Amino acid sequence: MRILVLGSGAREHAIVTALLRESEHHQITAAPGNAGIAGVVPVVGLDPTRNDIVTQYAIDNDIELVVIGPEAPLVAGVADSLRKRGIAVFGPGKAAAALEGSKTFAKRIMDDAGVPTGRALRAGTLEDAVAAIDEYGAPYVVKADGLAAGKGVLVTDDRDAAIAHASFWLGHGAVLVEEFLAGQEVSLFLLSDGQSVLPLSPAQDYKRALDNDEGPNTGGMGAYSPLPWLPDGFVDEVIETIALPTIRQLATEGTPFIGLLYCGLILTDNGIRVIEFNARFGDPETQVVLPRLVTPLSGLLFAAATGQLGGLPRPEFSSDVAVTVVLASAGYPDDPITGRPITGLADVTDVTIAHAATALVRGEFVATGGRVLSVVATAPDFAAARAKVYAALDIIQLEGGHYRTDIAKRVAE
Ligand code: AMP
Ligand code: GLY
Repeated sequence: MRILVLGSGAREHAIVTALLRESEHHQITAAPGNAGIAGVVPVVGLDPTRNDIVTQYAIDNDIELVVIGPEAPLVAGVADSLRKRGIAVFGPGKAAAALEGSKTFAKRIMDDAGVPTGRALRAGTLEDAVAAIDEYGAPYVVKADGLAAGKGVLVTDDRDAAIAHASFWLGHGAVLVEEFLAGQEVSLFLLSDGQSVLPLSPAQDYKRALDNDEGPNTGGMGAYSPLPWLPDGFVDEVIETIALPTIRQLATEGTPFIGLLYCGLILTDNGIRVIEFNARFGDPETQVVLPRLVTPLSGLLFAAATGQLGGLPRPEFSSDVAVTVVLASAGYPDDPITGRPITGLADVTDVTIAHAATALVRGEFVATGGRVLSVVATAPDFAAARAKVYAALDIIQLEGGHYRTDIAKRVAE
């Protein structure tokens, strides 16, 4: 199949790796990709958020399936533009992508569909935000309404910090103040063709920058899959009470969700609650979910893109587990220092590297952003997978680079 993968992160590198593993016959191109992706498939330097440019490229190159990795092209309507020209695309149109692009929209859909989520108040002024902050009390949860690249959410016991966060994001739009939900977090990905869904294997992401869940929220510092501690029937319950009602609500409104429904969940004492939806594969969870996928990925994505998921069996996963740890630049997430060389990548064994923010400069990899790469390992158990990942991270050197040392630690013990 001729496949175009849009995006430039470790998630897209993991998607490309999974497609290549499944068949040597795919012709895969990534746009714009990164230095790691460019090492395995051709990349083209086009702006993935430009509807016209992406669509023309797909037409000119007889692309049979476009896989949209990040949220920005979705929210920009790239999927709509491609679909209008009859090109199969894995990724929702602009209207359905608002499930991720607007937290207010997501809450409204959840309310209408009867999906369990925390209480939330939308504030358009600082006065309303402060009132909501005081109504729910500590710990305070304050979120930017729109896309904020992982920086829009603050969870804190510090009332002044909560107010300052609200004040900052009110400069960009509305904010949501939410009830704090306590419990383990789960990321569950569901493939959707607009009517039917198929679940992938659950994963857990580590959102905070530092060990023991300290430090600021980030885009994600590591992940593991599966989650052996989940109660029986968890996936079925999410499908019945969360995913299908959400998909049906969007279909009823004439905005079918075709792509990946990312359910960000908290397992509270009172049951499963949605903390967020995303309209795309999660990063870094994809790096641990796809290496375990046994069913060919392209077939699943194409079936979702063309309305043919109904009746397909659930995707199969290996019994091996997977762990990934993200190497971040000094200063990430606040103010990453970039341009520094990364060494040792050629010397690691028994792991795969998913590049995120790297470039090749005179034959040498350099870090070009905050989250630089993900080191991924699979193994029969978590202790073995962790050992492989951390052995590789001992070899990979990036001045000032940092990573969490406790990814999947609890589950390995
Ligand atoms: P989000 O971008 O909405 O996923 O939020 C980032 C992180 O903030 C989540 O992964 C949670 O760890 C935390 N968080 C978000 N909303 C809540 C909530 N209502 N209660 C507790 N923690 C939350
Ligand atoms: N891992 C969190 C996200 O992809 O949004």
